[in-house]
Amino acid sequence: MPRDLKRAAEHRKSRPARWELGKENTMNVAVRYYSRSGNTKAVADAIAEKAGVRAIAVDQKEAPLTDAADVLFIGGALYAYGLDSHLKEYLKTLKKGDAKKAVVFSTSRLSRHALDLIRKGLAEAGIAVAGETFYVKGKPDDRQLQEAAAFAGQFL
Ligand SMILES: Cc1cc2nc3c(=O)[nH]c(=O)nc-3n(C[C@H](O)[C@H](O)[C@H](O)COP(=O)(O)O)c2cc1C
Repeated sequence: MPRDLKRAAEHRKSRPARWELGKENTMNVAVRYYSRSGNTKAVADAIAEKAGVRAIAVDQKEAPLTDAADVLFIGGALYAYGLDSHLKEYLKTLKKGDAKKAVVFSTSRLSRHALDLIRKGLAEAGIAVAGETFYVKGKPDDRQLQEAAAFAGQFL
């Protein structure tokens, strides 16, 4: 092997693993959401970017939490006064050991009630829920997406 390549390989071996690098990398963070028209997805993506993970819609096959999350961010919105059935069903699948703590967000246009419904589903699963929530009325603008990221940062 040429000397340069050998040195690069040695360097890679000597680097700390990703989970050793910093506090944020030691946490197992999950972001789950359901979004019909993209508003909640935009917030989920901003939170996920801050956490260095990918936001996953609850109807995707990767949605089940296979490793216990230190923090589960979970969001949705109201449609005719209730949560979408995908999110309702997902909440029913959650178990106490799936997450140490959950943090809830929503983008419902008229009311914050989705926050309560999601919190209720989490409580029924036995998952502790942070008192702080993130709420935007409808489509978030750039500033609100930055606020979502900053909000998420306090849990990371
Ligand atoms: C069919 C429909 C019904 C809705 N019903 C409600 C409602 O009952 N209460 C409310 O606050 N917002 C309601 N909204 C507004 C949505 O909650 C809001 O637009 C939300 O940001 C949608 O999120 P999404 O883009 O992630 O799907 C409704 C929207 C639609 C399309």
